[in-house]
Amino acid sequence: MQQHSSFSLPEPDADSMAHSERVADHLRATIRDAGGEISFAEYMHHCLYAPGLGYYSAGSRKFGRSGDFVTAPEISSLFGSIVARQCTDVLGELESPAILEFGAGSGKLAVDILRELTQPGAVIGCNYKILEVSADLRQRQEACIRSAMPEQAGRVEWIDAIPAEFSGVVIANEVLDALPVERFVRRDAGVNQVCVTTSGPGFELVERPAPDRLVAAVGAIEESLGDALPDGYASELSLAAPQWIADIASALRQGLVLLFDYGVGRREYYAPERAGGWLRCHFRHHAHDDPLVLPGIQDLTTWVDFTAIAEAADANGLDIAGFVTQAQFLIGGGVDRYLAEFANLTTDARLKLSSEIKLLTLPSEMGEHFKCLGLSRGVLATPSAFGFADRITSLG
Ligand SMILES: C[S@@+](CC[C@H](N)C(=O)[O-])C[C@H]1O[C@@H](n2cnc3c(N)ncnc32)[C@H](O)[C@@H]1O
Repeated sequence: MQQHSSFSLPEPDADSMAHSERVADHLRATIRDAGGEISFAEYMHHCLYAPGLGYYSAGSRKFGRSGDFVTAPEISSLFGSIVARQCTDVLGELESPAILEFGAGSGKLAVDILRELTQPGAVIGCNYKILEVSADLRQRQEACIRSAMPEQAGRVEWIDAIPAEFSGVVIANEVLDALPVERFVRRDAGVNQVCVTTSGPGFELVERPAPDRLVAAVGAIEESLGDALPDGYASELSLAAPQWIADIASALRQGLVLLFDYGVGRREYYAPERAGGWLRCHFRHHAHDDPLVLPGIQDLTTWVDFTAIAEAADANGLDIAGFVTQAQFLIGGGVDRYLAEFANLTTDARLKLSSEIKLLTLPSEMGEHFKCLGLSRGVLATPSAFGFADRITSLG
């Protein structure tokens, strides 16, 4: 199975190209050491996270207009401000309130949340932990927070692993989509795993009989769909994501988990018309579907099967607090409060704010594809953002 690049991408500069060649060398050595091929999940892991080399581990600019993609916190501080307000009731129930953010990117969301939470009259004394797998991004986060709010920087602590016990609010914006996925092809004879091997100067996708764990995971999906996927159906599934949820659940004593990402429920994820799967590659704001080009300098990402996340949460004793689109979350979370301030703004500021709100909420932008799944344990408060609408039935 080979994918051809029948699209044109911007030309990477010489330094980026040289870096990608180093990542390709690393992948070739890894494939050779593994006996000639590695699973797609391993390939994705190395492309994104190989120390000092991977897309998230090396120093390239990823977020924002000069990078490869833009995330909600990078679009507007309004996102972090609303998320923070949605956390306050739960934080107020706890003796030592804390926030744990996974994959904090540039650090912008942490700044916006802390700014909102430390305003006069707001929750005081809330500590902020960040668990970031990329050493490079961690440095950028530290610099961003220190420069934006030096007086609050002492509240922020970077941790290397999920704490044994945690009470508070866990936040992850676009982390699930960055966890490596397995790609599989359903054949009448069984399930095949998509692997990556070398081919001339580049790489090639090949199908191999899937290991038991992947066969069982595809079988569980088919069982919940009530039917076998058709012969030749290719898609992805994450073995890493349910484990990540299990690890969070095992740490969470009391609190709320807010997961923001692009994704859908399982029926839509494995619908007949999605027979090619949900993997996307991003390079300089161009989206395409060839993961084998530009290793290490393009982002590889997959939409999330939110049913799988809800199942993992349920299996590990977490309650589903809500499931809504990003637009519903922001509207239910009080975006109108910001609109009410319109009258006090200059024309430029009004235009800026209305363009940010449109990007975050319009169905054709981030409003519909992006969802927020809320999980909870042992708290009384449910964020008002989940009161505006309820998409939980779409997870069934
Ligand atoms: C798409 S970026 C999103 C960054 C940021 N949250 C934002 O919205 O701009 C994914 C982030 O998740 C981090 N990441 C990936 N896997 C992770 C894991 N298992 N634990 C913590 N962070 C992780 C990446 O290094 C990166 O910072």
